[in-house]
Amino acid sequence: MKRALGVCYYPEHWPEDRWTIDAAQMVEAGLTWVRIGEFAWSRLEPTPGDLHLDWLDRAIDVLGAAGLQVIIGTPTATPPRWMLDKHPDMLAHDEQGRPRGFGSRRHYCFSHVGYLDECRRITRILAERFGANPYVTAWQTDNEYGCHETTVSYSHAATRAFQDWCAQTYQSTDALNRAWGNIFWSMEYDRFDQIALPNLTVTEPNPAHVLAFRRFSSDQVVRFNRAQTDILRQHTDAPLIHNYMGRVTDFDHYAVGADLDIASWDSYPIGFLSDRLEATPEHKARYLRQGDPDMQAFHHDLYRAVGRGRWWVMEQQPGPVNWAPYNPAPLPGMARLWAWEAFAHGAEAVLYFRWRQAPFAQEQMHAGLLRPDAQPAPALAEARQVADELAALPEVGTARARTALIFDYASCWAWEAQPQGADFNMFRLAFETYRAARRLGLSLDIIAPDADLSDYDLVLAPGLLETPETIENYTGTALIGPRTGSKTAEMNIPLPMGPNIPGFDCKAVRVESLPPTARIELENGGAFLHWFEGLVGNAEVALKTKSGAPAIMRANGLHYIAGWPEADTYVDILEKLAQDAKIEITRLPDGLRLRDTETHRFWFNYAPDTIIFQGKTIKAAALLIEPL
Ligand code: GAL
Repeated sequence: MKRALGVCYYPEHWPEDRWTIDAAQMVEAGLTWVRIGEFAWSRLEPTPGDLHLDWLDRAIDVLGAAGLQVIIGTPTATPPRWMLDKHPDMLAHDEQGRPRGFGSRRHYCFSHVGYLDECRRITRILAERFGANPYVTAWQTDNEYGCHETTVSYSHAATRAFQDWCAQTYQSTDALNRAWGNIFWSMEYDRFDQIALPNLTVTEPNPAHVLAFRRFSSDQVVRFNRAQTDILRQHTDAPLIHNYMGRVTDFDHYAVGADLDIASWDSYPIGFLSDRLEATPEHKARYLRQGDPDMQAFHHDLYRAVGRGRWWVMEQQPGPVNWAPYNPAPLPGMARLWAWEAFAHGAEAVLYFRWRQAPFAQEQMHAGLLRPDAQPAPALAEARQVADELAALPEVGTARARTALIFDYASCWAWEAQPQGADFNMFRLAFETYRAARRLGLSLDIIAPDADLSDYDLVLAPGLLETPETIENYTGTALIGPRTGSKTAEMNIPLPMGPNIPGFDCKAVRVESLPPTARIELENGGAFLHWFEGLVGNAEVALKTKSGAPAIMRANGLHYIAGWPEADTYVDILEKLAQDAKIEITRLPDGLRLRDTETHRFWFNYAPDTIIFQGKTIKAAALLIEPL
């Protein structure tokens, strides 16, 4: 498969006579893809029904004629101001019930039917006009669903739609009351139109109500996206893509991805480290200009699953961003390393965001490949280097990993609905599991809870709301828990209590959550943090706490873990399991990571200094590609 580089471009931001120069420079830089249009609605339709598509036609022509492949983004993430005049009630509402204002983006409510129709209309107009254009070789729906906390809306439209969803899902209020346990505190309903959204309650709302609302909110995103894909498919054979955002877990990406051909995500390693990762100040200082060594890879592996094997990086950080609390510049070499890491994990394309830094508006402090004055920014040369290297690299393929990590969105919502301990976050648990495995040099696949497990030798299933049925017949080595299988789909405690795996006599019957200062010491010198469960049953105790309680129980290769392991403890535990599963491990020095493809091993040095390992010298922010 051909791997390629590209860039995000906003022709509407620049004078038309600049487009030809930009296009020529893009080609010169070795770029082949260019994404345009996703925020341009106010220029495509300045007033309702007054369409101005000619400029986009000309922009596509200029870019295409220069040799670039064009991706059009539907402009539905930025409804123009007149849309609000037309649909004053289209705004999403925050948890306090306040409308989210006009003046940035993503202000729409997914449940607003009038706005959904407007999105269908503009999508149809663009699809009819450009669907058969030979330069337009991919489409992007909307932009970053859920970014800026926009999946969940507490609007009037959402309330009505949720009531309908409840009626369809439960068929009767009796069934809903039973499912949610509404007898508790006399919360029973006798009509669906009595059901409000789970905000502004006096104390905590019923977690079953919250989880149902979160499932509904996710379904609304799926419906919104499908409204566009249904139309696009009538007019184009080009692949349909969405660009997901890092650590956004508010909707089911697998479900949205099922209607698309390719998954993509937006990778801002330095922004993420500063903005959305739990890490010590030392870790944040060490990786300040490189980003976390596992964050990008985690998402690469996740989106390979969401895209059923086909995925891209639609936006790649090129220099300082504008939106994190602190926005340092990448170490020289990182714009190259990030792109290569994506390719090593199987990306078909990596597009830098953006071509030229805008001298105006919200993102004027966000770097591009060009400076605001159109001079090259440092990442331009790195992009050129990657393009040359790509051209020289033989086909490397994407190897199937032997280790799988099951990641599930409903579990994210469940533990947000009822964290039980302030530090219990599903993404964090999955990510720390992933990190521990990668510190052992493992290449992983991230998979959905209904995925086939039979090709994996080691399966990791931390924190899943329900125990995946596939575990029952799985014959390899697995690590399940903590918390996996501790609830029903309706957020009740299952009876008998979980994890409920036939033939595995192990139950978690008691739970405690812990502040960051508390540790549960283990007999082998390790420790659990945040969370500890009391396990009972006749399964073998494979590891105990210092005070003699079961920490891991096992039977036939299945292991259940009672707590959240501290980072080094997690590595030790996974090392044993990988040995059981006969998977080769390589304990890596801090900051060094590897990824195997079918034919090559890629080494990435995220550390701020040179690493010498196994006779190899890998400079800071550099990579090494070795044939296997
Ligand atoms: C992404 C978004 C882009 C741009 C970028 C800045 O989240 O899709 O439109 O805002 O961030 O880093």
